[in-house]
Amino acid sequence: MSLSLLAAAAHGESTPAWAMLAYLAAGVFFILALRGLSSPASSRAGNRNGMIGMAIALVTTLVTHDIANIVEIGIAIFLGGIIGVTIARRIAMTAMPELVAGFHSLVGLAAVVVGLAAWLNPGAFGILDASDQILLPSRIELGLGIAIGAITFSGSVIAFLKLSGRMSGNAILLPGRHIINLGTLAGILGIIGYYAVAPEGGAGEGWQVIAITALAFAIGFLLIIPIGGADMPVVVSMLNSYSGWAAAAMGFTLGNSAMIITGALVGSSGAILSYIMCRAMNRSFISVIAGGFGADDSAAGAAGGGEQRPYKTGSAEDAAFMLEQAEKVIIIPGYGMAVAQAQHALREMTDVLEEKGVEVKFAIHPVAGRMPGHMNVLLAEASVDYDKVFELEDINSEFSQCDVAFIIGANDVVNPAAKTDKSSPIYGMPVFDVDKAKQVFFIKRSMGGVGYAGVDNDVFYMNQTTMLLSDAKKMVEEIVKALD
Ligand code: TAP
Repeated sequence: MSLSLLAAAAHGESTPAWAMLAYLAAGVFFILALRGLSSPASSRAGNRNGMIGMAIALVTTLVTHDIANIVEIGIAIFLGGIIGVTIARRIAMTAMPELVAGFHSLVGLAAVVVGLAAWLNPGAFGILDASDQILLPSRIELGLGIAIGAITFSGSVIAFLKLSGRMSGNAILLPGRHIINLGTLAGILGIIGYYAVAPEGGAGEGWQVIAITALAFAIGFLLIIPIGGADMPVVVSMLNSYSGWAAAAMGFTLGNSAMIITGALVGSSGAILSYIMCRAMNRSFISVIAGGFGADDSAAGAAGGGEQRPYKTGSAEDAAFMLEQAEKVIIIPGYGMAVAQAQHALREMTDVLEEKGVEVKFAIHPVAGRMPGHMNVLLAEASVDYDKVFELEDINSEFSQCDVAFIIGANDVVNPAAKTDKSSPIYGMPVFDVDKAKQVFFIKRSMGGVGYAGVDNDVFYMNQTTMLLSDAKKMVEEIVKALD
C-alpha cells in the first residue's frame, strides 16, 4: 500500500526542501522502529515509531504531489486499514510466519505494478530524455525493480502456501534445478542489460520488460519450491529483504528518497535477520537457498519407525512434587507452548514456585517456535519478567547446576542429535544441554509426535527424564492445582 501510494504520487518534479526533511525524519523514525523491535521490552515503542514514520512519509507525499484523485486514495487507505486491523486482530501467533509471507507478496506485486506503470507512462515519472526514450539508468532500475518484485511476489506466494499447509511443506526437487535456476537468473540479468541499451526504449516499448516480468515470476516459484518447511522462515526473511531492495530500486526510478531509505532499511534488516537465523540453525545461507533441508524422508520417518525404546511417564502430581523440592528450575518453551497457548498457565506456575522459594528461569532458543522472537512475544504477553528470560548462550552453562529442566512443547532445540549425529538434519544446530540437568520433565502430547525436523529425540529415553504426555496448557494447569 505505502509503496504504491508513494510511487503513484511521485511525478518527477523536484522535491521541496521541507519535504526532503520530512522524508529524512520518517527515515529516522524507521531506524528507531528497528531499534525498538530488537527487544521485547521496547517493541511496542518500536512499532509506534514505525507508524509515525509511515504517516509522515505518506502525508508528505500526498501534500507535495499533484494527486489526480484524492478521494480514491482516501478510500484505498480506509479499506486497506480496515483489512489490516481485522487481520491483525484475528491472526493466531502460530500463523504469523504465513501472514508475513502473504504481506510480502503484496510488496513484491506493488513493485512490479509501479515498474510497469513507469514503463508504460515514463513521462509522468519524469524519466524520459529529449528524444522520448527512457533514461538508461531508469531502464536498469526499472528492470531490476520489476525483477526483484516479481521474484518476491511468486516466492512469497509459495512460502505462504507451504506455511499455511495449503501446499505440501516438503521440498519439491526438480531434476537439474540448479542449472535451470542459474540459467533463468542469468537470462533475466542479460535481458535487463540488453533492455538498457536496446533501441526500443520509449513508453511501453520493448519485449524485454514483459520477458523480465515473466521470467522473474517463474524464477521466484522455482527458487522456493525446493526449499523444505524448516527453512521457510529464513526464506520469508530473505524475501522480506528482496522486497526492500525492490522498493529501493523503484525509489531511484521515482526519485523518491523516502522509498530509497525505507527500501534499504527493509533490505538490509531482512538480510541481517536471515543471517542470524542461519547462524542459529548452523546452516549456511547458500545451503538454505539451494534447498533440501527437510527433503530427507528417511529422517522424517525416523521417530515413527524402528523398535520402541523404553521411557518413563509421569503425572502432574509427580511433576509438582519434584518442582517444589527444587532449588533451581529452567523452563524451555517451544512451538508446542504456542500451539497450546500455555504461556499464562506457565506464568502462574512460575509465580507459585517462586512463592515457595524456587528460582525459575526461562531459556529461549533463537529458533524456538516458528519465527524469530516467537517465545519472547508469548512470554511478554503473559507478563513474564524480561529479567527471567535468557538467551541460549547466556544460560546453557547453568543446566549442570539446575535441579529440573522443564521442557514445554520444545523438541528440536533440546535434541542432542544436533551435537552427536552427523546424519541428522539438525546436526550442528546449537541446542540446550538439558541432559546435564538432574531431572527432566518433557511435556508433549504423544510419543508419536515429532518436532519440526521430524527426528527422534534421545532426551525422551534418558534415565532422568519423565514424559508428561498431555496438551501443554492442560498439564501446566494441573501442575498449578497440584502445587496449591
Ligand atoms: P519443535 O521441534 O517443532 O517441537 C514442537 C513440539 O511441541 C513437539 O514435540 C510436539 O509434540 C509438541 N507439541 C505440539 N503441540 C503441543 C501441545 N498442544 N501441547 C504440548 N506439546 C505440543 O519445536 P521447537 O523445539 O520450538 O523447535 C523449533 C523448530 O522449528 C526447529 O527445528 C527450528 O529450526 C524450526 N524453525 C524455527 C524457526 C524460528 S525463526 N523460530 C524458523 C525456522 C525453523 P506432539 O506433537 O507430540 O505434541
